[in-house]
Amino acid sequence: MALKLYLLLLFLHLFSITKAQSPPQSNITTGSTLYTNSTPNFWPSPSGYFAFGFYPSGNGFKVGIWLVGSPKNTIVWMSHQNDTVLSPGAALLFSTDGRLRLHSSTGQVESIARTNQKASVASMLDSGNFVLYDSSWKIIWASFDYPSNTLLVGQKLGQDQIMYSSISEADTSIGSFKLCMQRDGNLNAYPIRSFFDGRYVYWSSNNPHAERNSSLNLAADSRIYLSNSFGLSVMNLTEGGYPIDVKALYRVTFDVDGILRLYQHQMGLKGSSNSSILWTTIHEEDRCKVKGICGPNSICTINDADISCICLPGFDFVDSENPNIGCKLNFTIIEDCFGNKGNADYTIFPLPNTLFEPSEYDILLKSSEEACSKDCLEDCN
Ligand SMILES: *[C@@H]1O[C@H](CO)[C@@H](O)[C@H](O)[C@H]1NC(C)=O
Ligand SMILES: *[C@@H]1O[C@H](CO)[C@@H](O)[C@H](O)[C@H]1NC(C)=O
Ligand SMILES: *[C@@H]1O[C@H](CO)[C@@H](O)[C@H](O)[C@H]1NC(C)=O
Ligand SMILES: *[C@@H]1O[C@H](CO)[C@@H](O)[C@H](O)[C@H]1NC(C)=O
Ligand SMILES: *[C@@H]1O[C@H](CO)[C@@H](O)[C@H](O)[C@H]1NC(C)=O
Ligand SMILES: *[C@@H]1O[C@H](CO)[C@@H](O)[C@H](O)[C@H]1NC(C)=O
Repeated sequence: MALKLYLLLLFLHLFSITKAQSPPQSNITTGSTLYTNSTPNFWPSPSGYFAFGFYPSGNGFKVGIWLVGSPKNTIVWMSHQNDTVLSPGAALLFSTDGRLRLHSSTGQVESIARTNQKASVASMLDSGNFVLYDSSWKIIWASFDYPSNTLLVGQKLGQDQIMYSSISEADTSIGSFKLCMQRDGNLNAYPIRSFFDGRYVYWSSNNPHAERNSSLNLAADSRIYLSNSFGLSVMNLTEGGYPIDVKALYRVTFDVDGILRLYQHQMGLKGSSNSSILWTTIHEEDRCKVKGICGPNSICTINDADISCICLPGFDFVDSENPNIGCKLNFTIIEDCFGNKGNADYTIFPLPNTLFEPSEYDILLKSSEEACSKDCLEDCN
């Protein structure tokens, strides 16, 4: 019995030593380079499920990490999300002095991983985390510490960190919305140009046990939760309980339309061929509740799967190619409203079944539609 116990302890001991000292699963050594126009133009993880390198965005390239898939990859991290796209001919160089730098085709050099220490080895891990190690295998930089629009299992959004939605699937630059892990312990979504002010929040975790220094986390079984400084969960946004399986990957993405969604990817031979939505902050039929989904002077309408922005009567799109930017007046305003004693030339249109943001308008306490119209037309301001 004693011998058995001894052997077991020895085994455990050996196991823990191997684990602590085990080198990364894939080694990217100094001197390695990626080019936009070479194949492959990425460094894969051992499983092949994730890759770090150049991906097409807009009319050029950006640097990031993606979940390999067929027919398309899913971008899960972007370096310098809002920088202009790179022209072909750019290179990513893991230099012999231990720095990871981007060299544009016009000769500009930009750091991809800012660290004080020299990196010895880089690795694209199976978790989707791209890391740099120093010579004693200590991680000195990790992409997981700089979330863009997605959290993967084991990654977190810490206090004051913000996730930005992308413009579109094809252009990953910063789009119309931001999601902030606030100091008050709540996770709140806002239109991109608004202040971090309660009036503009269109979705909130409404954490009843809000604490300072909270973070948003994704657990291995897909549970999304807010945790406190000690890592204890203070609020579960989802229950989790989905399979923990190397072939089932989860991600939480702050999507183009300003909604945070939990996805499950079933990984096959060609990567992910299928993904399904397990949870969302706002239901599909309520997508018009996202503030800023349509621009000024326009109305959001939803028709089954399609959401569209339409102009108020008397307004036209600022840019008909981009209906979500907003609308502008399509006639000239009478210059001398006061001299003309009101806006007699104008017409009031009823807009049935339309919800207005109350804070943006005056509410007239009048009983009849007629009296209300009259007040409106006489208001020269
Ligand atoms: C990574 O590098 C270390 C140290 O050079 C080496 O021991 C290990 O075998 C390498 N691992 C792989 C997967 O190449
Ligand atoms: C992103 O870049 C665009 C275009 O350069 C700029 O208008 C916008 O303000 C930037 N957004 C942020 C959040 O920096
Ligand atoms: C904030 O929380 C993190 C864990 O999420 C912890 O590591 C860190 O020490 C905390 N910071 C403070 C100032 O309490
Ligand atoms: C969240 O769920 C986990 C797992 O079910 C549970 O252990 C934890 O207590 C829950 N946290 C809260 C605040 O309910
Ligand atoms: C894709 O998902 C659907 C529904 O979730 C499922 O019926 C189908 O078998 C999946 N296909 C693959 C290739 O996994
Ligand atoms: C202005 O908009 C109205 C209503 O949308 C439309 O009937 C009218 O033709 C437009 N006028 C001009 C000058 O585009």
